[in-house]
Amino acid sequence: MKALVLAGGSGTRLRPFSYSMPKQLIPIANTPVLVHVLQGVRELGVTEVGVVVGNRGPEIEAVLGDGSRFGLRITYIAQDAPRGLAHTVSIARDFLGDDDFVMYLGDNMLPDGVTGIAEEFTTHRPAAQVVVHKVSDPRSFGVAELGPDGEVLRLVEKPPEPRSDLALIGVYFFTPAIHEAVRAIEPSARGELEITDAVQWLVSCGADVRASRYDGYWKDTGRVEDVLECNSHLLDGLSRRVDGYVDAHSVLVGEVVVEVGARILRSRVEGPAIIGTGTVVEGSHVGPYTSIGRNCLVTDSRLESSIALDEASVTGVHGLRDSLIGRAASVGTTGRGTDHHCLVVGDHTRVEVAA
Ligand code: G1P
Repeated sequence: MKALVLAGGSGTRLRPFSYSMPKQLIPIANTPVLVHVLQGVRELGVTEVGVVVGNRGPEIEAVLGDGSRFGLRITYIAQDAPRGLAHTVSIARDFLGDDDFVMYLGDNMLPDGVTGIAEEFTTHRPAAQVVVHKVSDPRSFGVAELGPDGEVLRLVEKPPEPRSDLALIGVYFFTPAIHEAVRAIEPSARGELEITDAVQWLVSCGADVRASRYDGYWKDTGRVEDVLECNSHLLDGLSRRVDGYVDAHSVLVGEVVVEVGARILRSRVEGPAIIGTGTVVEGSHVGPYTSIGRNCLVTDSRLESSIALDEASVTGVHGLRDSLIGRAASVGTTGRGTDHHCLVVGDHTRVEVAA
């Protein structure tokens, strides 16, 4: 089996971060979402991976390389514009050949893994096997109606009035039967070739299409709040590891990771939390549920349930919470005795100060 990992989407819901980096490289527990995805693919025993990239391809390639670091062989497949999930299957036709494959959306996190579902697929080998998850509001997803034995009766993309609460989440298993389906469908109302429509085409032709329920933790990391929530979830599984320097005036509480070259000075770090390589935390209280990237500076501050990307700095700010601070961004104060705020806020940025 091969894998097709999709990392071409533009990430408008993740602005302003997606202006300067592909959304698939947003770090969760200090590891890019896309690397988490590749680790999930590797767990299935798959080694041949096609990664579909858009105009951010070079940045993604710089992080993933040839894949050998993850035990994978990566082939990059360029998509000229986001033309739909089914379109990626057609442009990957040469890479996929006549092999079965798993298609995995590069911004979906399924940390509990889909190895059991992959085994079901290889054992029964239906034409297609989709993965579904119960959600409270299915209207923004592909929705599956299932028969009593898990057979798919109908799939509809983003129905205004869903007939089930089972959403298609970012993982699909296919035999080569999907190629004919992809050729047969027309673009949807949003102008994209929908994979949901291609799988529905197979259902309409009477092909065996099955669904498996994934009941583990799932998150489409499309929005800032999803990224923060997913970060907290992953940090819950953290184990203490201190490879950096912690001075005698500092306290680490619970599951804290201090990476090589990080320095904790006169501070309290409350787990679960990760402090990245080269970062200095001084006179501060960090955590719980906080990931600080590489080469950051946190001084005289208090932050929790937050993520700081590489090279960010936070100085003199108390009570930061549920915050996502971008690469090399700085958050500070206007100084003692001043009574004004000073903001340099880029496009589509959100700032919320205490009332
Ligand atoms: C896509 C699929 C949809 C699926 C979702 C999962 O939606 O079209 O069927 O439920 O991914 O994240 P999109 O993110 O392109 O709106």
